[in-house]
Amino acid sequence: MTHSILDNRPALAREVADVSEVAGYLWQKGWAERNGGNITVNVTDSIDEEIRTMLPVSEKIPIGRELPYLKGTYFFCKGTNKRMRDLARWPMENGSVIRILDDCASYEIIADKPVKPTSELASHLSMHNYLIGKGSSYKAALHTHPIDLIAMTHHPAFLEKDKLTYLLWSMIPETRAFCPRGLGIIPYAMPSSFELADATLKELEEYDVVMWEKHGVTAVGENIMEAFDMVDTLSKAAQIYLTAKSMGFEPEGTTIEQMEELKLAFNLPK
Ligand code: 13P
Ligand code: ZN
Repeated sequence: MTHSILDNRPALAREVADVSEVAGYLWQKGWAERNGGNITVNVTDSIDEEIRTMLPVSEKIPIGRELPYLKGTYFFCKGTNKRMRDLARWPMENGSVIRILDDCASYEIIADKPVKPTSELASHLSMHNYLIGKGSSYKAALHTHPIDLIAMTHHPAFLEKDKLTYLLWSMIPETRAFCPRGLGIIPYAMPSSFELADATLKELEEYDVVMWEKHGVTAVGENIMEAFDMVDTLSKAAQIYLTAKSMGFEPEGTTIEQMEELKLAFNLPK
């Protein structure tokens, strides 16, 4: 019988189960080819004293930057090069818990196996550091590769600020209701780079969901389900747009007045 750090830790096991569930959805959606996409969840609230003193299963690994708000925090992370469809079935073989060390610039792996976290860790941890710093209750970050939304970023007209936001909001009222801060756009940047991490942070000031041009979507939320739901809602709106186009017409979209009415009725932030 093999032991897992999830044994007798229902709160932590629940966090990991939610990640597994979402990882399965990402695969089913066709958004997670091979190792595409990554997830990190701040699980610090589910960490007990025993884990806090547990010996790591890795060396100390540098993050590459100092993230002061992350001191002593813990994250469950998808492993780099690991498949979402495998994470769905075997989370502790395709992901791990990391402990951010007191220097705030390095981490070690506390897990069943030394699964190295995602190559987008710089972006993910920078986002978590930003969220904690501003007192946000958000705990989850998701990066994924939705076909429809990425295709839209291949058209320069859709890269203009808030162009996609209004277009997608106008396809079906739920989009504005459940993704009320809209969609930020970041010009193409090298995957895994600090440039991409910093551009993402800047957009988070205004948006919960950010498009990485010709690469994917990154979303933050209270929990991983919420982050997934926002991307799913936006993808649905994109599909309505593309379906109308494939039927040979430009969809009319709800009017600015109808969207304003919705904003007032639902008390939406933007
Ligand atoms: P990882 O396998 O390192 O998480 O990378 C996947 C990805 O989508 C990079 O942007
Ligand atoms: Zn990616």
